[in-house]
Amino acid sequence: MDIPVHQDIKPIIEVIQSEYHTKNKTEIPKYEIGIILGSGLGILSEKIINPTVIETKHLPNYPISTVAGHAGKIVLGELSQRKVIVFSGRIHYYEGYTPQQVVLPVRIMKALGVKGMIVTNAAGGVREDLRPGTFMRITDHINLMGMNPLRGLHQNELGPRFPDLTSAYTPEWGEVADQVAKKQNIPLKKGILGALSGPTYETPAEVRMWRILGVSAVCMSTVPEVIVAAAMNLKVLGISCITNVAAGLSNKPLDHSEVTEIANQVREPFIQLITAILTELE
Ligand code: HPA
Repeated sequence: MDIPVHQDIKPIIEVIQSEYHTKNKTEIPKYEIGIILGSGLGILSEKIINPTVIETKHLPNYPISTVAGHAGKIVLGELSQRKVIVFSGRIHYYEGYTPQQVVLPVRIMKALGVKGMIVTNAAGGVREDLRPGTFMRITDHINLMGMNPLRGLHQNELGPRFPDLTSAYTPEWGEVADQVAKKQNIPLKKGILGALSGPTYETPAEVRMWRILGVSAVCMSTVPEVIVAAAMNLKVLGISCITNVAAGLSNKPLDHSEVTEIANQVREPFIQLITAILTELE
């Protein structure tokens, strides 16, 4: 039986360092915060100051994002005076990549020195008040993706064999986000994220199940990245953009164009919220 092995990311880091050096004629600095952008939220990467853009297709054994609304680039630079690495072009499990490949962005940001990650996604609202266009801070998750990205050969440098996820969504960062949102007058709800593998949206019966389980919103991503970040002791702030009400809760069929359209509509407050939070994170 083949035991999954976590990918050696050294060759990827070497290419990033070398492209950085070619462009800036200096060594790559230590970064502070990594940001993973969800469907339709790539706009944030255009706000980066002094950007060094790495096309992920230049990186050895890095998966190609195949989804509309995902760009396939890593932007290194500054935002709100913080040194950030922004991943625009997420790798999803439903694309057929392995769980180990899905979490490469987290491994890369950790190798480049970050202390924490902001992860964003598009999600379907299960709880009644989570209407399209709402932001939800993720306080916890339920993983029904049928996989765990840490399954496989244990490597000490990737964290303990049995990581504790009690505070995977760093409470202190969550409080900062809540306070900033309040100050900025941007409504930010709190909730529990459920994840299925996709690519189908859930059935109405599955949405009823989520509701019984206490899930507020549902997605096809994020959970693997958060598991790996928590195992490596990275702080995590997760923010979902509710792009639709989950299946069966409205009389409209679900469509990916609705997801990107709503994400587009909230780009201004989204940028405002993330940039303001970045200033305050410790
Ligand atoms: N379900 C799962 N994932 C999603 C949804 C949804 O309704 N909307 C955006 N991502």
